[in-house]
Amino acid sequence: MSKFTQLSAFTKLQAHKTQMDQTNLIGLFADDADRANKMTVSACDIELDYSKNLVNEETLSLLVELAEQSNLQGQIDKMFGGEVINGSEKRSVLHTALRDFDKTTPEAKGVVADSLAKVESFVNSVHNAEFAGYTGKKLTTIVNIGIGGSYLGPKLISDALKPYWKEGFDIQYIANVDGTAVTEGMKGLDPETTLFVICSKSFGTLETLKNSEAAREWFLSTGAKQSDVKNHFVAVTTNQKAAVDFGIDAENLFPLWDWVGGRYSLWSTIGLPQAILLGMDTFKEVLKGAFDMDLHFKNTPIKENLPALLGLTGIWYNNFYDAQSQAILVYDDYLQELPNHLQQVDMESNGKSVTQDGDIVDYNTGPIIWGGAGTNGQHAYHQLLHQGTRLVPSDFIVPLKSHNPVADHHPWLYANAVGQAQAMLEGKNLEQVTAELVSKGMSEEDVAFIAPHKVHAGNRPSNMITFEQLTPKVLGSLIAMYEHKVMVQGAIWQINSFDQWGVELGKVLGVAVFDALQTGNVAKMDSSTANLVNKFRDA
Ligand code: F6P
Repeated sequence: MSKFTQLSAFTKLQAHKTQMDQTNLIGLFADDADRANKMTVSACDIELDYSKNLVNEETLSLLVELAEQSNLQGQIDKMFGGEVINGSEKRSVLHTALRDFDKTTPEAKGVVADSLAKVESFVNSVHNAEFAGYTGKKLTTIVNIGIGGSYLGPKLISDALKPYWKEGFDIQYIANVDGTAVTEGMKGLDPETTLFVICSKSFGTLETLKNSEAAREWFLSTGAKQSDVKNHFVAVTTNQKAAVDFGIDAENLFPLWDWVGGRYSLWSTIGLPQAILLGMDTFKEVLKGAFDMDLHFKNTPIKENLPALLGLTGIWYNNFYDAQSQAILVYDDYLQELPNHLQQVDMESNGKSVTQDGDIVDYNTGPIIWGGAGTNGQHAYHQLLHQGTRLVPSDFIVPLKSHNPVADHHPWLYANAVGQAQAMLEGKNLEQVTAELVSKGMSEEDVAFIAPHKVHAGNRPSNMITFEQLTPKVLGSLIAMYEHKVMVQGAIWQINSFDQWGVELGKVLGVAVFDALQTGNVAKMDSSTANLVNKFRDA
């Protein structure tokens, strides 16, 4: 395959961008009264209105051409088929097997089905107190100890599905290697009713090991005996030996496999804490939602394919408009963790500078993902979205119905999301601002001075992603939609979206700095690093 920037579709898109610069979103809507209907697609109970993007029919056709020239479908088939597409780690990428209800791969038929059965049986035994605390009490507080993919996705699931929690159960997360995280995370826990689930694919992650040690120490300090640990500590890992060495009973180990990337592991046994919290039926609904999105992604032509459309329009801004970031604006407090999870899914996947073949890329790859809950963001960073110098394509994610209908709150919330996207589209030009100020009786001098500050350029692209209500199934589909969006972009940029070597160097140097904090040996360090070591030792 030719290099991304040497594909003929890339060159055509560059020329097309010059044409698109001659028009704007207002013009595109004026040209076609049916634009919104034509550019709205739905699947898996999620509707994507992408009409407020700087695209026309030709843009879409060229983006499809780009996908075809990049053999996107071939790469999708390879992923689902279990081929080794994570080249630098020589691994298959099979998180889709974790939710494959059709059992099309040997993994889905075998280890995935077996592990799900083990999770189900454990969940039931915690619920009916067959697996109970050392004094016989029911385990009702789950503490998820893990970081990265062993934290972000799982936390998203439990936060987003709070209305579905089993009565009487609660969950805490301890991720950071910060004494505050452990202290606050364990405050008020009752050792007799607490179950610690150590979630670590590698069982070698510093933060998780330190926090697990602290949790075990606390547990023993409350009067429990070493032999009681087996009733209160279980682990999910590929590294069963390390978990057993830590003191986890072999019976209480849940398997994981190297073909599940950390950031895609929420669907696996890593979801055990959430399965306990939600119950197995609800957890399976989340998997079902993801499975439905997998089928949609695999089998739907690009122009109706939600992840493909999101991925391709993202590439359009990233590589032709030089957009540096992508905002995820959730208008549902239950989804507040989505931007955090997507930061890992997207930036750990596509924050890469070499192609699968190891050649340095001369084009931009993964965008900076950021965002948060609306309307809160409207009183903070939306200023930059509307009047800043940067183009920030934004995804608005909004349910039509709230789980918590209070007075007219939800219509207000919805109205704000829609109004923000409309403001980004239309803006307000100098003429409009001037007329408005004049009509308020402002002096000519003041109008001339103030008007430029009130101009909104508009023409700022956004997607509107809506669904009736945030159900377990919709949540599964939504997360899987973004996973596949990231896959589409990585495939077209010809990078490996499934390794994460960039997190390694900092980890290694952190160990060297830790050693220097003990020994004071700063001989091989730059003067800034040495100063920081000395400052800490002197404090
Ligand atoms: O930060 C790097 C990383 O490897 C992530 O990809 C992963 O999700 C996280 O660390 C946690 O790893 P583990 O589950 O092995 O503890």
